[in-house]
Amino acid sequence: MLSKKKIAVVGAGHIATALVGGILKAKLVEPKSVTAARRSPEALEELKKRFGIHVTSDNRKAVKDADIVVVAVKPQQAAAVLEELASSVTEDQLIVSVMAGLTTSWINRKLGKANPVVRAMPNTPMLVDAGATPLAKGAHAGDEDLELARQLFAAVGTTEIVPESLMDAVTGLSGSGPVYIYMVIEALTDGGVKMGIPRATARRLAAQTVFGAAKLVIDTGKHPAILKDEVTTPGGTAIAAVHELEAKGLRNVLIDAVVTATKRSEELSKAAG
Ligand SMILES: NC(=O)c1ccc[n+]([C@@H]2O[C@H](COP(=O)([O-])OP(=O)(O)OC[C@H]3O[C@@H](n4cnc5c(N)ncnc54)[C@H](OP(=O)(O)O)[C@@H]3O)[C@@H](O)[C@H]2O)c1
Repeated sequence: MLSKKKIAVVGAGHIATALVGGILKAKLVEPKSVTAARRSPEALEELKKRFGIHVTSDNRKAVKDADIVVVAVKPQQAAAVLEELASSVTEDQLIVSVMAGLTTSWINRKLGKANPVVRAMPNTPMLVDAGATPLAKGAHAGDEDLELARQLFAAVGTTEIVPESLMDAVTGLSGSGPVYIYMVIEALTDGGVKMGIPRATARRLAAQTVFGAAKLVIDTGKHPAILKDEVTTPGGTAIAAVHELEAKGLRNVLIDAVVTATKRSEELSKAAG
């Protein structure tokens, strides 16, 4: 379905560049079907050289004739950019927003149009094609719109369809989640260093342990508690550590982290209006 579509990307920064790279690598669309817009001429030239796509610093020109418009500016730049696009966007264009905390109805209001809007909340592992992207459709979007948006993000990782009411919660889980895991990797590394392992070795071991454990959960489909039970030998090392982690409240602290980040996302969303 995507192969025949023209895609415009407004706000071609980190997230949008990773997305464009992914969809081109997956050959979902040809470079000539993609137009990227941002203000910096040097960055646009770089994008053109790297991907062979069209580039422009004129947002209105970028969206002209596009079937799909991906909006990836920072949330604080969104109102100005959407108001600028309002006169150029036509109601048959699918708007895909990766902007945190901005609802589909807010986007429709800023555009002053009943476009189909799909929200996506990717995370930065999409830079290495290992992203997790929940997507939600707005009131004017249909299943076909949602599927088109899903295919874009499937090029850079896995996708989940959720109701829009869960967008703050997924922001608190997978959107912000890589940060929690970086802290876990850092702490495991420090633990290894404390026990005498050279730092570089400890970091590689810690990161691969997180990666391997996640891969085992994903590939086997087994409940993590079963995988945990399978490796906790009676009287062994892992169960001794489990006791310590439970006593110090590892699960509680991670649950609270997701709750707190979700609430913060709700607050930011409300502040946007
Ligand atoms: N980073 C994450 O983990 C993450 C995860 C999920 C969602 N998001 C969302 O993704 C969005 C982009 O984040 P990012 O990390 O990719 O930020 P970013 O690298 O700063 O990208 C935003 C881009 O927007 C461009 N821009 C600013 N004003 C513009 C304008 N008036 N017209 C056209 N382009 C404009 C900027 O380029 P110029 O200065 O050259 O114009 C910049 O390259 C945000 O809304 C964020 O909420 C981020």
